[in-house]
Amino acid sequence: MKFSGNGIVALGLVALLVVLGVGLFASPDYSNLPSSTSTQLSPIMTGVQAVPIALMAPSTPGGGYTDPGIQLSEAHWQGLEALPLSVELKKKLKLPMRLQGLLIDEVSLQSAKSGLMAGDVLVAVNSRPVLTLEDLLRESKRIQNRNSATLTVYRKEEWKTFTLQVAQGDNLGFAQVETAPMILPGDMRPHPYRGPCTLCHSVGTTGHMVPDPDGIILPPPPIRPNARIPHQDRGPCQVCHKIIN
Ligand code: HEC
Ligand code: HEC
Repeated sequence: MKFSGNGIVALGLVALLVVLGVGLFASPDYSNLPSSTSTQLSPIMTGVQAVPIALMAPSTPGGGYTDPGIQLSEAHWQGLEALPLSVELKKKLKLPMRLQGLLIDEVSLQSAKSGLMAGDVLVAVNSRPVLTLEDLLRESKRIQNRNSATLTVYRKEEWKTFTLQVAQGDNLGFAQVETAPMILPGDMRPHPYRGPCTLCHSVGTTGHMVPDPDGIILPPPPIRPNARIPHQDRGPCQVCHKIIN
């Protein structure tokens, strides 16, 4: 068999990647990754960004690295969305530092009907404390076959109780939990420092659709040369529209 010089260099780099990947996986202290790594790898990193990440996580066949201890970041239950009430959020929302619970940041469906409001801090379900997303998951599972539950929340320096109710014959079911979105290895942090990225994020390239379905933009339709302009002036027609006869 005959290898070209380039082939051998590439093989060497792949071996280096394997060693680095395995080394990283074995030792959670990823801070000792040599700072020169990115320059060493860059020639073959182009276009295959996912390779070393995939090697770091042999247990994730889809690619990407997910820390075994990754934290939950949100839960959904009967139309409510709940987040851990972090110190960062307490500061932003001017909530008492001693308050513990889950921030309800969105309500719809049955949660909205119950009287809950976004901004409420959930502290108990059926009088049992719910201070973490794991608590909410556990307590909602406990009562998943019932059709109502009482939710105790902190709102504007008061404790309030609301009844979450689903139709006769329906049941509450249990909360669905999620971690933070998967991020790309090169992503910039859009939020304040919260700790090591992998505490909350999977890192890889398979976690989101590109383009995002909410962001898919269809091209404007073709128009005829004499078309009347139905929208505000956006510039020369042919910049955006194909002109057809
Ligand atoms: C304690 C948990 C936590 C840690 C640690 C953390 N993040 Fe996040 N990150 C989140 C959550 C939750 C979101 C969702 C939006 C928000 O809350 O800001 C997010 C959103 C993001 C997003 C936007 C993702 C998207 O698709 O909308 C990026 C990019 C990101 N974080 C990068 C980072 C990076 C880089 C680090 C490490 C330096 C990091 N994060 C550390 C929790 C965390
Ligand atoms: C910057 C991009 C842009 C420019 C420049 C622009 N348009 Fe449009 N146009 C759009 C988009 C996007 C739509 C789709 C509907 C909307 O967003 O209003 C559209 C829709 C239209 C439609 C409706 C087509 C249909 O079949 O529904 C007509 C007609 C039209 N534009 C005419 C014009 C004319 C005439 C001009 C020039 C004077 C022009 N547009 C300039 C972006 C543009």
